[in-house]
Amino acid sequence: MDDLEKFEIRSQNRSFLTNSPVMQELLSPSLNHRSWVNDAKVRRLYLQASSQQWYAPQKVNFGQSIDLDPEIRRVWIRFMSVFYTLEKMGLNVIVNMMPKAVKKLKSEEVPLYLSVQCFDEARHVFVIENYLRKLGAPPQYDWTLHVLGQLASLGFYRMENWLFSTLFSENFASCFLRRAKAANIDPLGAEMCQSLLVDESRHLHFLHIVLPEIMDRFSLFGRLYVKSAQFFIMNFCERMARTLDADGTLVGIDRRALVEEAFENVERAYESYGVTRKFLHFPKVAPLLSH
Ligand SMILES: [Fe+2]
Ligand SMILES: [Fe+2]
Repeated sequence: MDDLEKFEIRSQNRSFLTNSPVMQELLSPSLNHRSWVNDAKVRRLYLQASSQQWYAPQKVNFGQSIDLDPEIRRVWIRFMSVFYTLEKMGLNVIVNMMPKAVKKLKSEEVPLYLSVQCFDEARHVFVIENYLRKLGAPPQYDWTLHVLGQLASLGFYRMENWLFSTLFSENFASCFLRRAKAANIDPLGAEMCQSLLVDESRHLHFLHIVLPEIMDRFSLFGRLYVKSAQFFIMNFCERMARTLDADGTLVGIDRRALVEEAFENVERAYESYGVTRKFLHFPKVAPLLSH
């Protein structure tokens, strides 16, 4: 049984999934006919998210020393610095976008859930910061990537744009974490990736609840606008990822397979909202440079 399975079983044994009348009462959302989203599902996810919170100094053993070949260590410093920047950007953006999403979605449950997600992202930044310190490289925000955060939260249809961008970034993060924990990494790094991965899959769950509703209410112009912004973001990431080919190969991460998997997951999600590849274009993923 791997750690993820153990974690899920432990969470299921906790009270949030019991069918007791008291729990059913706790799970019932406040009456609100104006809400855009399925409040019962969001409330349930809020409780699940609350029960799965973890305290970084207890969950990840920062006391262990890291024994890595200097070249492999350099690669993880590089990859985790990019990841740190993306997580920190994600945290700043969620702090900024949360009130806008709450207002637009008119839900009484969304602020409960998003507050927990916001705390998740703060914890991610904290953990990666400390992992980078353990690797001997204090974290540095990479300003060349900053444009991504701006693209995801500025302009028209800000709230929609943010949530659709998150669909891509959460998928990208999950694909990276799954590969990183299985790659040539130290036990502390693998433990950290595993813990982050559980949170990121919950973040995707939230999007699968709210995005179909948003898509249904979207005007044609809104769809076109968000479609272009999403293409730009995915294209930027695809190009940026190309520069990591050689280092990826060193630790056993196939950049092309990673990016393709992220695009496929996003495509599947859009398909379930009734949008096909004919409407949404995906950038072409370049072959590995070494091939
Ligand atoms: Fe995160
Ligand atoms: Fe996330």
